[in-house]
Amino acid sequence: QDDQFKKVVSHAKEYGYVFQSSEIYDGLSAVYDYAQNGVELKKNIRDYWWKAMVQMHENIVGLDAAIFMHPTTWKASGHIDAFNDPLIDNKDSKKRYRADVLIEDYVGKLDAKIEKEVTKAQKRFGDAFDKEQFLATNPRVLGYKEKGEAILKRMGQSLENEDLADVKALIEELEIVCPLSGSKNWTDVKQFNLMFGTKLGASADTAMDLYLRPETAQGIFVNFLNVQKTGRMKIPFGIAQTGKAFRNEIVARQFIFRMREFEQMEMQFFVRPGTQKEWYEEWKQTRLKWHLSLGMGAENYRFHDHEKLAHYADAAADIEFKFPFGFKELEGIHSRTDFDLSSHEKYSGKKLQYFDPEINERYVPYVVETSIGLDRMFLAVFSNSLQEEALENGTTRTVLKLPAVLAPTKAAVLPLVKKDGLPEIARQIVDELKWDFNVDYDEKDAVGRRYRRQDAAGTPFCITVDHDTLKDQSVTIRYRDTMEQQRVKISELKEIIKKEVDV
Ligand code: GAP
Repeated sequence: QDDQFKKVVSHAKEYGYVFQSSEIYDGLSAVYDYAQNGVELKKNIRDYWWKAMVQMHENIVGLDAAIFMHPTTWKASGHIDAFNDPLIDNKDSKKRYRADVLIEDYVGKLDAKIEKEVTKAQKRFGDAFDKEQFLATNPRVLGYKEKGEAILKRMGQSLENEDLADVKALIEELEIVCPLSGSKNWTDVKQFNLMFGTKLGASADTAMDLYLRPETAQGIFVNFLNVQKTGRMKIPFGIAQTGKAFRNEIVARQFIFRMREFEQMEMQFFVRPGTQKEWYEEWKQTRLKWHLSLGMGAENYRFHDHEKLAHYADAAADIEFKFPFGFKELEGIHSRTDFDLSSHEKYSGKKLQYFDPEINERYVPYVVETSIGLDRMFLAVFSNSLQEEALENGTTRTVLKLPAVLAPTKAAVLPLVKKDGLPEIARQIVDELKWDFNVDYDEKDAVGRRYRRQDAAGTPFCITVDHDTLKDQSVTIRYRDTMEQQRVKISELKEIIKKEVDV
């Protein structure tokens, strides 16, 4: 697992997808830059989301609200009081941990023990081994599972009840049962606010304390009535937005999985009170379908229904994805009730109500939200696509099997040799195709090496111009995933590629 993840990180750098921010100054922790290919992949994911959410839904419109918002926004939203992480310091190592993540790591040790039992049994039973049955019946495995679940339940309850002393006690107990840090010397658990503060205005006396937004959603809430009125929107309707969000994450690790500056793609769906549960179920399914449409394997997704709810929700679920380090949250679907709009009414003194002509009533709408991290989706797509393939001739190839619709470059045009007029024809093909797709021209090295380079960069098609092209206006198109090659007319190229990369 660790090895696979290391490969993902180094491949992302080597092929111009993701760089550490300010690398020449040794980087900034949990901040990353998207390079020439990364910026295209990220844009394609954003566009794929926008198309599905805004273009395909008559009753969903877009918004691009500012990152800076009036500071009272965050009082009303609950972020000033409740957007905290429980932190604990290890007095010996002077390391700081997020208490809930630390506890999850202890539970991870139990999962590792389960994996060990599986490997042992696999060796013992060989072909006759039935993993599912083993996991469901082996007493030792069941014991570890039960223990893990009990730990997480206790943690959830203690955090919910703000019983931070018990969270510390739990960590101390776990350190004895399955040591992680080798130290018993912990501070008390303290709540730490995740918002970044900054100042608006130059003078020390009059400058206003601001926060960088920790979610894009509040920009949608405060604009709800403006959009509803000017767009003459009728409930149910949605407002969608993509944009940067900032959180002072303490445990910043796992590459672009948890960043301090990241991008969200959020949609708030405004519904009649009492109908939120139906819409919540509907949006859970709609969002899962969106993920499945990319063809990254249904077995890599699962729902996780929350027991511990955020301060604003009456129901919440995550869509979890199987990252190289296990199943983790990729997207959240939250039934946020009228918490945000009612709270903004209270703090601003402005009515944020909708008159529903169908039932002749005025009310504050309920909200169902879908919220996905663009960077996290990037990591899901990238890590799932990166594969080492054993070939029939005994060699291996590294291939980045990105869904064609998301690939940064759709095709590479390769003249077989750098002479005899082949580069000129290849250039002409590039010039024609570039109106519709990102295309690459590559003439360096033997064609086999160029294929490998494009495979590793994630380009779904290679188009090779050879001497026969001069006679028959045909080229060879090679498919990245199957390595199959076909002879096709130059005039057909656009349609062939379009069929594969259009949604
Ligand atoms: N408006 C609701 C909201 O912000 P959240 O569960 O805190 O909910 C939604 O965040 C999504 O944003 C997550 O599912 C995740 O994909 C992404 N996300 C959250 N924190 C992140 C971080 N530090 N780095 C990258 N992505 C993050």
